[in-house]
This record gives sequence, C-alpha cells and structure tokens, in this order.
Amino acid sequence: MTLDPADLELAGLRLDIDTPQRADGTQAAGAVATVTLSRPRRRNAMTPSMWRGLAKIGSALPPQVRVVVIRGEGQSFSAGIDLRLFSAEGVPAEGPLPDLRSDGFEAWIADCQAGFRWLRRPDIVSIAAVRGHAIGAGFQLALSCDLRVFAEDAKVCMKEPALGLVPDLTGTKPLVDIVGLPRALEICLTTRTLDAIEARELGLAEIVVPVDRLDEVVADLSAALLTTDAATARATKKLLSMAAGNTLEEQAAAERRIQTELQRERLGPLPS
Ligand code: ACO
Repeated sequence: MTLDPADLELAGLRLDIDTPQRADGTQAAGAVATVTLSRPRRRNAMTPSMWRGLAKIGSALPPQVRVVVIRGEGQSFSAGIDLRLFSAEGVPAEGPLPDLRSDGFEAWIADCQAGFRWLRRPDIVSIAAVRGHAIGAGFQLALSCDLRVFAEDAKVCMKEPALGLVPDLTGTKPLVDIVGLPRALEICLTTRTLDAIEARELGLAEIVVPVDRLDEVVADLSAALLTTDAATARATKKLLSMAAGNTLEEQAAAERRIQTELQRERLGPLPS
C-alpha cells in the first residue's frame, strides 16, 4: 500500500520519516516516523477519515521505521471527535456517521479502532507527544501509544460518557492497566480534566517537560530507543506485552521461548 501525502492531508494528517543522526555523526539503525494531526484551527478534532488515514499509515509503514511519534500541530494534541459529526451541519467531505443503532455499527467501530490498534505492534515503539488538550478520542489516541511524553500544559479528559458514549477507541484497556479500575472509573464517569502533573503521578505520562522542550525530548527519547538492535527490541516488547496476562510460570516459559527464538534468529543455525 502506498501513501499519498495529498490523501493524508485531506484526512488531516502529515507523515514525516527521518533517520536520526547519532552523537558521533553516524546514522541510527532505524527510522522515526512522525505522524502529525494537522487540523490546528479545530484543535486537531478527529474524523473517521483521520482514523482511516492512521490505519493506512500503520499498514504502509516502511520496514525501517522502529519508532512512531504521534503529535498534534499547534496548541492542542487533539480535541477529540469533530463534534460537527453529531450535528446536521456535518463535516465537509466526510460522510454522515452510521445510525448508532444499525447492524453495521459495531463493524464501523472496528474500522475506526484500526487507526489506533497498530500503535502497539511489536516492531515499533510508539510515543504520544502531548501538548495542550487530549480529549476523548484524543486521549484514547495518546493511550494507544506505548509511551507518553507530556508538555507542562497538557490536559487530558475522557469526555465520552458526558456525551452518552463509552470510550470505544481502544483506550479503556490501557487506562485500566495504568491507573487501575477504581481510578479509571472515577476519571471516566466524572469526565474531569487531569493536568500534566496528576497524569505523571498516575503513570499516564512517563515524563512531563516544558512546552518548548517537547520536540527535543521526544527526539532524544526516539534516538535512545534506536540504540537497541531491532530484533532484540521487537522480541523484548513482545515479551513485556505478554506479562500482564500471564502467570509467573507462563511468563517464565515465554522468556525461555522468546530468548531461544531470538538467539536462533541472531546467530543462525547451529554449525553441524
Ligand atoms: N470538534 C469540532 N470543532 C472543535 C472541537 C471539536 N471536538 N474542538 C474545538 N473545535 C473548534 C471550535 O469550535 C473552534 O472553532 P471556531 O474557531 O470556528 O469557533 C476552534 O476549534 C477552537 O476551539 P476553542 O474552543 O475556541 O479553543 P480553546 O483553546 O478555547 O478550547 C478545547 C479548546 C478545550 C479543546 C475546546 O475547544 C473543547 O472543549 N472542545 C470540545 C472537546 C470535546 O468535547 N470533544 C469530544 C470528546 S468525545 C470523543 O472524542 C468521542
């Protein structure tokens, strides 16, 4: 699948791929893809076209890409779903939402979720670089990433229940995994806004940085993640991702199996 920048632009997205330089001036072993939500006048409000565009980026990512950064252009990460979709006005060039009671509604949600799910793939590490608001679908997009770097002005809110919706863009599992069920329930049902400091205390942000240092810190983190060999990084992410659902015995078995697979892949077959 090829990605046409003009199609991405219509969906409110931009994709840049770079291979960072190491401190010694050599090229890093792997590239960083930066996906920018680029509807700043609407605070990067999201549409089904944007979610489809995200899914296409995931499917067409060049194999050398090992880190994916998701950011918003301008002062907000994303103000969530474009609320005009719920009104008669609609969003230009965007079809209407399906009837929320229709038989096809679940399948339609699955298509929208595809824009978020690829961010957990074992061959990449995804980083949400969040400044300003990340509301509703915007918060879920940040939660879909492996790591979150917040600017000091970041504010997150799971707004969906205030609109009579459940959060359905893959955000509920990472939210509960990170903050636990009681806190997740409180955050979702009060629909309150959390600032960057509280987000860090709850583990929703790995690090909080001054607004004007966000891009630099994310670039440094991306370069640091690329210092590990690609096959080792992929195997390690796969192994760590299994831990929460495994017993100690199961995880110990997974460690043995994945180590063996990795070393066979790295070293080739045993000499006869
Ligand atoms: N959908 C459509 N347009 C939006 C959205 C949105 N979600 N958010 C902001 N905009 C538009 C505003 O209508 C405004 O347009 P205008 O300049 O034509 O009037 C422009 O973006 C700027 O918005 P302001 O409200 O003026 O910006 P401010 O910085 O003061 O506030 C904030 C930003 C807090 C994000 C506010 O716009 C807001 O609360 N937006 C709605 C958030 C929301 O409820 N999202 C849905 C969540 S549920 C879900 O995602 C499934």
